[in-house]
Amino acid sequence: MGEVSQGADLARVDLPRTFDWRPCPGAADESGHLPRFQPHQGFHPQRCPNAPRMRTGKERAVAIDVANRLKVGRLEEIANGCRVVSGGRHGIAVFVDGGRAFAVDNRCPHMGFPLARGSVCDGILTCHWHHARFDLSSGGTFDPWADDVRTYDTVVEDGVVYVDPRPRPIDVERRWKARLRDGLEQNLNLVTVKSVLALQEAGVSPRESVAVGAHFGAEYRAAGWGPGLTILTAMANVLPALEPTDQALGLYHGLVHVARNCDGAPPRFQLDPLPAADVPLAQVKAWFRQFVEVRDPDGAERALLTAIDGGASPAEVADMLFSAATDHLFLDIGHTLDFANKACELLDLIGWDRAAAILPSLVPGMASARRSEELNNWRRPVDLVALIAPAVARLPQLVARAGAGSWDGFDALAGTLLGEDFAASVRALVEALEAGAGLTDLTRTLSYAAALRVAKFHTSNEFGDWITVLHTFTYCNALHQAMRRAPSAELARGIFHGAGALYLDRFLNMPAARLPEHRGADAEPRDADALLARLTDLLDREQQVNEAALVVHRYLSLGHDPADLRAALGHTLLREDGEFHSYQMLEAGLALERELRELQPSRPDEANRVLVAVARYLAAHAPTSRAMLQTARTALRLQRGEAIYEDGEGEDELPA
Ligand code: FES
Repeated sequence: MGEVSQGADLARVDLPRTFDWRPCPGAADESGHLPRFQPHQGFHPQRCPNAPRMRTGKERAVAIDVANRLKVGRLEEIANGCRVVSGGRHGIAVFVDGGRAFAVDNRCPHMGFPLARGSVCDGILTCHWHHARFDLSSGGTFDPWADDVRTYDTVVEDGVVYVDPRPRPIDVERRWKARLRDGLEQNLNLVTVKSVLALQEAGVSPRESVAVGAHFGAEYRAAGWGPGLTILTAMANVLPALEPTDQALGLYHGLVHVARNCDGAPPRFQLDPLPAADVPLAQVKAWFRQFVEVRDPDGAERALLTAIDGGASPAEVADMLFSAATDHLFLDIGHTLDFANKACELLDLIGWDRAAAILPSLVPGMASARRSEELNNWRRPVDLVALIAPAVARLPQLVARAGAGSWDGFDALAGTLLGEDFAASVRALVEALEAGAGLTDLTRTLSYAAALRVAKFHTSNEFGDWITVLHTFTYCNALHQAMRRAPSAELARGIFHGAGALYLDRFLNMPAARLPEHRGADAEPRDADALLARLTDLLDREQQVNEAALVVHRYLSLGHDPADLRAALGHTLLREDGEFHSYQMLEAGLALERELRELQPSRPDEANRVLVAVARYLAAHAPTSRAMLQTARTALRLQRGEAIYEDGEGEDELPA
């Protein structure tokens, strides 16, 4: 009958991870007296030779099937050393320490260094590349930036060590979700991308990763919803347009930005709804707007939670948010409405049952947002607020008949909105409503006009002004998406606010860059793949703005598949260390382009121009140092089992 090694014999299933603090009944102190139990001083098990060991709950009864086990060698031959046997994905490193046998995966989970080359001291295995430390017995790491190493059961019979080549089972989804949260908490990009890849490989829906990031971002930032959650939602929205290899990258980018936003920030402590949930929704909505108006985030949060708790529908909750987000003009240069819309989109993805956890994060920003009517350029030399006021006063009647007629004024209205007469813009919008245009007809036209501002942004402008035209475009896109979700007379005020921002941006099209359709493109290739490769190459160099626009126009005008171009644009963004607005530009641009292409299949020019705008914006902000891509490549190579420590090769096969 063989002896079971101590490294494997402790154990029994499902023991709690706790110390047994009871004093050993048979142990006497140096004076010969039995020790007294002193609960507040604790009791160190190691002082008592008969004390029970810490039970980890991870240790399992060992019953290695003789047919499956691998012979490692005699215990004394391996003593205080290591032997590697074939098995698992990367070989199994079997250590003998203190007369006990332990087996771990031979690749360090951090970056793949062979753990057989590590050293063991006091039961701790230290990797000799970046010095991550692991408990030999359980495989658990003491360094959060590394990861727990997989372990294997061992048994010693007649002085011979055997190992079971099947790793001890783990709950993959649970483990990698926990690691994803670790990555967010510690702001560790490598841990985050490894978790995303592992969850993807395990077949876990991307929604699950998004939900982990959403809850973390909403809870651990006292300032509330910010760019990180916006990027996460935007990337989740564009996932279907990306190549499969880029989908994990998209999630990774969103999650990394959530972690960065929360890094070092105090957490947010959530309030409760009012005790009575039978207040009429109209009253709660009025309270919410009133509290936002006086910049009282606590009152506003309780009102919002009360509406959710009282069973308000997603559309009703969205209406509350959108009304408050348009009670003033172009709040926080458009971010307030954009964030409110994105929060609703996030809940569409992860479930509205999470509304109470996510939506209150909007309130701090909403209550503190800068109101554009307080800015000089909205009041002088042209008082936009005064010009808007009469139209806004008529909105309840105008909105009541919106969509009642057939309206075909898309081109004319877009032209007027891009003009130099704001009074004419207001008039044109009112006339369109009087003519029976739908609210989304107007918001779509407004979005298109804002995209044209980007498509015609002249590179002689200050570089920072790319963001000015971007803000207006993303505001208009948010308004359009919000209008599709919860149309109202209150939200319709945003149409005039967006038109005001578009008017104020007009100097950024003076002079206007020529659209690529007015420039010769004959020197460019005709083949679709060659054009996409050319686009990718152009974005390897700085400021190839107009060249990129030309390639995109040529690709689309030759009738090539827009889906491949969308994926290529997504790829060019995801290889960069993207800044907040580039993600917004891609997502809003793809949404508008697809809608225009579907609504007007016989008129592709408008949709094509939107992609020209996207390409120009991305080209203006590329290339970067691509540090995030390098980290993602490392994680991907590790997942494939490549030996990173040996050389730097293998990159050619990975996303460029
Ligand atoms: S610590 Fe082991 S590879 Fe980095």
